[in-house]
Amino acid sequence: MIPVTKTYFPDQARFQREVQRIWESGWLTNRGDLCKELEAKIQERLSCTPLIMMNNGTVPLQIALKLLANGGEVITTPFSYVATASSIVWEGCTPVFVDINPRTLTINPDLIESAITPKTTCILATHVFGNICHVEQIQEIADRHGLKVIYDAAHCFDVKYQGQSVFNFGDISTCSFHATKIFHTAEGGALFCNDANLLNRAFRMHNFGHVTPETFDEVGINAKISELSAAMGLCVLEDLDIILDSRKSVVDYYRKHLSFQGFQTQTLREGLDWNAAYFPIWFESEEKMLQVLKALNDESIFPRRYFNPSLNQLPYVQYQSCPVSEEISQKILCLPLYVGIEESTLVLICSIINDNA
Ligand SMILES: Cc1ncc(COP(=O)(O)O)c(C=O)c1O
Repeated sequence: MIPVTKTYFPDQARFQREVQRIWESGWLTNRGDLCKELEAKIQERLSCTPLIMMNNGTVPLQIALKLLANGGEVITTPFSYVATASSIVWEGCTPVFVDINPRTLTINPDLIESAITPKTTCILATHVFGNICHVEQIQEIADRHGLKVIYDAAHCFDVKYQGQSVFNFGDISTCSFHATKIFHTAEGGALFCNDANLLNRAFRMHNFGHVTPETFDEVGINAKISELSAAMGLCVLEDLDIILDSRKSVVDYYRKHLSFQGFQTQTLREGLDWNAAYFPIWFESEEKMLQVLKALNDESIFPRRYFNPSLNQLPYVQYQSCPVSEEISQKILCLPLYVGIEESTLVLICSIINDNA
């Protein structure tokens, strides 16, 4: 069975050495040495803003919205994982969907301004599949209207734009360290922020709102990551270059051997140093996509329909038309992409797609 992705497992003896440190310290969670060490190593490796690691990539989105959206209308993308839109609703805010650019798959900045109302507080956009949004134009609009900007950068570990970490853009960026991601801590994530005051509030919020053991200024939640997850992260981080090189060679293979006749892939922004997080292709119709999917499934190859449905069609949001996102969501597939995928598998995948598209 060939899945869309496989979790990267570091050397087991290496992991056990980190776990041994936990046994020695007797400290299993609540920001132990491994957690702090991993945060420092991530910041050093990425040359990014300070970060707070958390127990997944969804709760930092919720905390960012709690801090910046103030229960208002949040302009967002319909083309993302469900966590982007559900976090907005979960925080008691109203998602206002703005359609995407049909080549980059990120929010179309030219459509943002007409969606702004007196209730708009924030823009929450996703750097889809690691492709950065039009951050310059978005920031310019936000500044002009006094709005905050959050980036869901779940797919962006080690992505750079114009030489700097993508986590440096916007007021807050968030990332997922889920087991399916390029860098992972089994479950985990992080919030990145350059504003010391905001970061301090986020820090308190991720720890129940504690200011001191007995004082609380504002509401909080438990978003702490365990030392076991940090141990995994320390090992995976050490192997990051191996992971990135391997994934990039798979993407190079797809680019070289797929015909792109009857289907296309995402256009990455210029100036992007990408991490080969996903390899999406989309077809001329859903029918065509389903035909290719069936041919792949018949050979036990299981790409995924990321992202489907378009989030403006979720049953718990008010429907707003986003024709580009709705159409692409129906005919897109993300192809298998992981460390250790065999060349014979890539040969088979490419020939099935080229023959059926
Ligand atoms: C775009 C996006 N945002 C948020 C998340 C949520 O991250 P997590 O699964 O770590 O909660 C994901 C997870 O896949 C994602 O793809």
